[in-house]
Amino acid sequence: MASFLAFCGSVRAASFNQRVLDVFCDAVEAAGGDVTRISLRDVAAPLYDGDLEDESGLPAGIERLRRAIAAHDGLIIGCPEYNGYMTPVLLNALNWATRSAEATPDLGPFRNKLTVITSTSPGALGGMRASRELRTFLSGIGALVLPQAFSVRSAFSAFDDAGALTDERATVQAASIAGELIDMAERLG
Ligand SMILES: Cc1cc2nc3c(=O)[nH]c(=O)nc-3n(C[C@H](O)[C@H](O)[C@H](O)COP(=O)(O)O)c2cc1C
Repeated sequence: MASFLAFCGSVRAASFNQRVLDVFCDAVEAAGGDVTRISLRDVAAPLYDGDLEDESGLPAGIERLRRAIAAHDGLIIGCPEYNGYMTPVLLNALNWATRSAEATPDLGPFRNKLTVITSTSPGALGGMRASRELRTFLSGIGALVLPQAFSVRSAFSAFDDAGALTDERATVQAASIAGELIDMAERLG
């Protein structure tokens, strides 16, 4: 069974992106995948700083994150949009995760790592601008990013009181992209 590590670039309790990520992770599990969900809040990475790295090495949370990335077949990343870009929390964690314990670059955990991006924002684009930037970033560090991304528009009205997506088409799309992801994971085997 293909295994995926899921984390979101927003760590706030009421995050819409975390909810969209959870919907997608549920769909991946329904399609036969195994998903480990973590919060970047628990990674607790300080802002990357080369002096800090030279003095203290990798933060413990980043060492755990790197091991978790390496131990899973793929990644599912929730990408909120701040001014057209991914959030500092996400960018910081990813940058740290490209470093070795010896304070050198090490893209090993990301090499050929099948990755899918999810996003939502209050607007009509659903965070697609940031999602595109994240896609470029991930491709640059060697990940294989699934062409399809799960993006939900109008975040503030995207969920009903029971926590389900209000747009049935989005639910269908989550299932479809989850199926593509599992299919791709099996091909990469
Ligand atoms: C600093 C900042 C910049 C933002 N820039 C954008 C933006 O460029 N496009 C957009 O659609 N929403 C933008 N938003 C709104 C966020 O998409 C919205 O707050 C969203 O709920 C954040 O994701 P979360 O609910 O998962 O925490 C911005 C919010 C903040 C705090």
